[in-house]
Amino acid sequence: MVQLENTKCSFLFCLGVCILICSAIYLKAKIPNTPVPSTELSRQTTPAPKSCDILPPATPGFTWQRKDCKKISYETKQDANCTLLQSDLHFIMAPLSKEEEDFPLAFIITIHKELETFVRLLRAIYAPQNVYCIHIDAKAPEEYKTSVRNLAGCFPNVFVASINEKVTYAGFSRLQADINCMNDLVKSPTKWKRVINLCGQDFPIQTNLELVRYMQGPEWKDRNMTPGIKQPPTMKHRTEFQYEEVKGTHVAPKGKGQKKDPPPHNLTMYFGTAYYSLTRPFVEFVLNDKVPKDLLEWSRDTFSPDEHYWVTLNHMKEAPGSYVEGEWEGNVRAIKWRDQEGTAHQGCKGQYIRDICVYGIGDLPWLIERESMFANKFETANFPEALDCLELWHRHKILKQATVPVQPSWRLTTEVEVINSTLILKPGDCF
Ligand SMILES: *[C@@H]1O[C@H](CO)[C@@H](O)[C@H](O)[C@H]1NC(C)=O
Ligand SMILES: *[C@@H]1O[C@H](CO)[C@@H](O)[C@H](O)[C@H]1NC(C)=O
Repeated sequence: MVQLENTKCSFLFCLGVCILICSAIYLKAKIPNTPVPSTELSRQTTPAPKSCDILPPATPGFTWQRKDCKKISYETKQDANCTLLQSDLHFIMAPLSKEEEDFPLAFIITIHKELETFVRLLRAIYAPQNVYCIHIDAKAPEEYKTSVRNLAGCFPNVFVASINEKVTYAGFSRLQADINCMNDLVKSPTKWKRVINLCGQDFPIQTNLELVRYMQGPEWKDRNMTPGIKQPPTMKHRTEFQYEEVKGTHVAPKGKGQKKDPPPHNLTMYFGTAYYSLTRPFVEFVLNDKVPKDLLEWSRDTFSPDEHYWVTLNHMKEAPGSYVEGEWEGNVRAIKWRDQEGTAHQGCKGQYIRDICVYGIGDLPWLIERESMFANKFETANFPEALDCLELWHRHKILKQATVPVQPSWRLTTEVEVINSTLILKPGDCF
């Protein structure tokens, strides 16, 4: 008898749920639902790149479309409606997990061109609990600077560096740009735990959640990540002779090979990547202590000082979070170097520029397998599909990991029905 009562209850409960679901479906169906012809569609969505094989397959009978409802305009206006801008550009405006909220990150992004590429990088790494310092090359066109400033003005946690350098490739200015941002970041109210530096040609492979987990894992907990080794003989010239930035365009030997004094404080020089993840106490040490300050001054006339500065300091016993015995550990960047072809990778599907691969869409399967924090380099002018495809894949991964309800505007793609090879778009597919 009791069992029967239970069954009856279950039945009534199910009936209730069914009525609710049916009402919801009915109400949704009542909203006008006339398919939009495909000619109009082109205004609202664009196909995902055809060979974007890394994207999970769409439902049979459907195809993935990008939701580029509003083009990223070159002139983001000063009086923009920021709520609207955030959703038009698909920014994720809520923390996606408690874990991420409890471990805010700081980012330094140095840029000089391509507003759209920058917006796509920023929205890929943006989270409201993080903080972002944008260093704009002082040589950049005024309207570019204005657009970036206006965009930053729409986010309380995004700002342009208070001092912006004229940046020279391999010059001291590149290092100074990071230091400028660090000076601003330590004054930020955000209690960030790590700072990560990026350039405009980087794009994330890991999600914010994955970054947070990676840096809290056993290997990197309370430790700086600055991949590099003791300065090899082939790199000695960089710090043995004096160099200077010429006309803000390149770095050249000064005079006829003028020798430099040895490094201050008898420091052992290291050589590595300019990319890092640094703990906050280490950044405070860099900005305030005598040894880092002396090394910075001494580095002014060296070649590509950002490739020795961080890694040298991170091998000092006294530096907070240092990794004295560390070498190339740390999955900071996936880069295809030309000289590693046949060993680390099987060639560049895009094109080598300065011996570094600018990725084509065919490089993506290799890239996502590496599970690096970020990948370098992307150039939208020559290989737009690589970034298009990676961006869609990355956003899919983020939304799959989210522990909060996903807002429609956070999606970059929508599934569109294909009937007799015509795309059928429902109103509301484009938010
Ligand atoms: C901005 O746009 C949103 C959404 O359309 C609207 O609700 C809000 O009132 C607008 N805000 C301002 C200040 O105009
Ligand atoms: C500098 O370091 C080297 C070894 O790294 C050591 O032999 C030498 O005594 C040191 N010199 C000074 C002045 O501390």
